[in-house]
Amino acid sequence: MDARKTTFSAPGKIILFGEHAVVYGHPAIVTAIDLRTKCRVSKSLQNEVQLSISSDYLFNEPSTGLKKNYIVSKEQNGFITQDSKNEQPLNPAYYFVTKKILDLATSKKYPHIHINSEIPPGIGLGSSAASAVATLASLSTFMELEFSMKEINELAFEAEEIIHGKPSGVDNTISTYGGIQLYKEKKFSKLSIPNFSSYVVIVNSGIPRNTKTYVEKVAKSLEKDTSKYQNILEEIGNLTLIAKSSLIEGNIQKLGKLMTQNHLLLEKLGVSHPILTELTNSLLQLGSVGSKLTGAGGGGCVIGLFENYQKANRAVEEMKSRGFQAFISSLAERGVQVEQ
Ligand code: MEV
Repeated sequence: MDARKTTFSAPGKIILFGEHAVVYGHPAIVTAIDLRTKCRVSKSLQNEVQLSISSDYLFNEPSTGLKKNYIVSKEQNGFITQDSKNEQPLNPAYYFVTKKILDLATSKKYPHIHINSEIPPGIGLGSSAASAVATLASLSTFMELEFSMKEINELAFEAEEIIHGKPSGVDNTISTYGGIQLYKEKKFSKLSIPNFSSYVVIVNSGIPRNTKTYVEKVAKSLEKDTSKYQNILEEIGNLTLIAKSSLIEGNIQKLGKLMTQNHLLLEKLGVSHPILTELTNSLLQLGSVGSKLTGAGGGGCVIGLFENYQKANRAVEEMKSRGFQAFISSLAERGVQVEQ
């Protein structure tokens, strides 16, 4: 087998509009970013299923290159996983993806799965979905299953359910298909946008948080005060549809204003954090046309939309000087793809 053909990469994402509301059937606008997770599968030299995970997080300077090794064995009541060095349990999504493919495969080859990610986990950039998508593409090719994009996306959604509880499916979909998409209830359409100059600055607040916790928090609020929270989610949904038109028209000023409004609604929903709001205000002062938290909230990242590269760059430098990790991302990156 040509090793190059079993190397795939999949992108992370940012939600431009509509997080949380998308879990309740409202639309969201999401874009793939230029941080990727790469997966290469080779023949295991140990006649065991091996998994090596390393990171090359773009945010880290210098990169940690942290590496974890696992043997994934199909014994007793299923898979036993061990990290020979760190004794940390394997992320159950990797376990699910690996087991699923090995159960389906008729080939008796033992794979060694090598994962390397640029996407830091736990900050709302879709790292788990990108890992699942890249691994599904790569491992299914190695095991001669040749999954379609649709199969990759559906199985990555199941992996996301294991980690996040009740995800909307937006992360796995954008990681599989890429681009900028309007996503609603597992249906998605790529948006073709005019060529206008726009730069998105992503700033990591450094506050750890968990998507599942914040999705559950919103569910509890809805249970307690249904009409109040339903109204907020509906407002976010309406705003997302207006943002879609602004995006297609290339009206960046309006897009920015809508972003900032979206942040205020997320605050009302109870998923922001004082530091996130402080960071969005700082980005506005630094010349962003609009700014909001992105992802589940509670911590993680904020984004700022800029018309001008110099201003975006200055904002990144300013954020870094204040001790935050920040970078400018290009948008509408490609979805899962084979690496040469
Ligand atoms: C997480 O990236 C975005 C949320 O809307 C959850 C989801 O869509 O599954 C908070």
